[in-house]
Amino acid sequence: MHPRTEIAPSILAADFACLGDAIRAVETAGVRMVHVDVMDGHFVPNISIGVPVVASLRKATRLLLDVHLMIENPERYVEAFAQAGADTLLIHQESTPNLDRALAMAREHGCNAGVVINPATPVSSLSEVLAQVSQVLVMSVNPGYGGQRFIPNSLEKVTQLRVLRDRHNYNYRIEVDGGVVAENTADLVRAGADILVAGTSVFHTPNPAEAVRKLQQIATDAVAEKV
Ligand code: DX5
Ligand code: ZN
Repeated sequence: MHPRTEIAPSILAADFACLGDAIRAVETAGVRMVHVDVMDGHFVPNISIGVPVVASLRKATRLLLDVHLMIENPERYVEAFAQAGADTLLIHQESTPNLDRALAMAREHGCNAGVVINPATPVSSLSEVLAQVSQVLVMSVNPGYGGQRFIPNSLEKVTQLRVLRDRHNYNYRIEVDGGVVAENTADLVRAGADILVAGTSVFHTPNPAEAVRKLQQIATDAVAEKV
């Protein structure tokens, strides 16, 4: 399906006054998507990016916009983010009692629908939606902030999701977000991660494009070792 693990730089760690420059930097490294963290100060303690910024990003790049909604009642905003130009809407299992509806709305508005689980939420809680999502995002930190330490049992969740996908012929890609660094990239790829979100380890370096290439190289080598 998608043999290569890809890096999705998270612009949460970039300078918000220079987002265009940040995106151009990682474009030169050949990424296909950027990860955009939306936070409402309720579902998570922090406040970050909203609809107008996604609309501006849409004008600034042709990269896929992987929009991570850390907001309560996300179904209220699905249409607005879709119209702003999001390609994928990632919706937290914990953020709405109407998860199935929120995912269906994302698809109806022309987006890929992805579901997200926090560190304390088990993979089993997704059993009723796995057949209908194109991405499953495993949070490997508690959401709200960049620069946190990777929670190791996230690896086990990636493995569980890969086994379930094989068993049931599901189509989702497995994504991991939080604390992704050079040191854990190979383990994540071997466990089955298809998309690695990386914020601090890309943008808090002198050369973000080089940082992406390095992570990509580790990921490619890890796949080669696996075969
Ligand atoms: C955290 C966000 C992440 C964040 C990851 O709530 O969802 O996407 O940007 O940042 P790092 O890579 O610094 O952990
Ligand atoms: Zn995120």
